[in-house]
Amino acid sequence: MAVQRTFSIIKPDATKRNLTGAINARIEAAGLRIVAQKRIHLTPAQVGVFYEVHKERPFYGELCEFMASEPVVVQVLEGEDAIAKYRGVMGATDPAEADAGTIRAEFAESKGENSVHGSDAPETAAVEIAYFFSGLELVG
Ligand code: CMP
Repeated sequence: MAVQRTFSIIKPDATKRNLTGAINARIEAAGLRIVAQKRIHLTPAQVGVFYEVHKERPFYGELCEFMASEPVVVQVLEGEDAIAKYRGVMGATDPAEADAGTIRAEFAESKGENSVHGSDAPETAAVEIAYFFSGLELVG
């Protein structure tokens, strides 16, 4: 498998509890390199564009409000098979279903407030990275 990049968000429930360092330690221990990172406070409208694919879902409004409630840390992670690897490190969307030892099993509070986001495919990773970072900000 080739070296890939994936997009990550450390979500408000995690930044609020000062878990950025603990989550980054797990990312780096898994062999993923943080090649871009910034802390930002999104507006609900900016979140709405990012999660547009979910706009018909019943939780969309709640998701936009939550993601704009506190700062987030957005990141680009690089490594062998980075997309699947990070999804493994994160665990299932619902922390009740996440494998022991994953970020969500350890830290997530609920299906909505689940500490981290990671891209699900190369095409979405490219779109998500471009939404938050310019090429100059990616430092491999
Ligand atoms: P994420 O991987 O960021 O992608 C979409 C997000 O929607 C997901 O993580 C959850 O935070 C959120 N989500 C998914 N299902 C639900 C749900 N049933 N209720 C509330 N939020 C949800």
